[in-house]
Amino acid sequence: MKKILIINGPNLNMLGLREPEVYGSDTLEDIRLWTDSKIKSLVETIWFQSNLEGEIVSRIQLAHTEQFDALVINPGGYAHTSVAIHDALKILKIPVIEVHLSQVYKREEFRHTLLTAKAASAIMSGLGKQSYYRAIQSLLD
Ligand code: DQA
Repeated sequence: MKKILIINGPNLNMLGLREPEVYGSDTLEDIRLWTDSKIKSLVETIWFQSNLEGEIVSRIQLAHTEQFDALVINPGGYAHTSVAIHDALKILKIPVIEVHLSQVYKREEFRHTLLTAKAASAIMSGLGKQSYYRAIQSLLD
């Protein structure tokens, strides 16, 4: 069975409460359960969330020594600022897909720069919780 690491960055632990008009009413746990129910017999997913840039960097570094087939990451706001997460992603030899619940290019201009995505093979943005599912599905295909 394939094994995929799914990393979520800052404020994604506040989904459900946070700007529901942008991100919907599902919590991150709802999204995890929904996504896992769609793909459960095909892939094992390990979900990780942190609000701290260094913890995300360390989790990516750890993934380098583990047996993951791919990484899906929603870096949250760090997508627009983090050279450190970008550099950590560059260390990995496995495919990386960056996901965003919202369509970042329809939002504020500061969200149009995706630093971390420069280290990803693909981006999913604007499909809500389906961004995670579609990313995993495309990795399996
Ligand atoms: C987000 C988009 C980011 O701009 C924002 O800072 C987030 C969530 C998304 O999933 O749409 O925290 O990554």
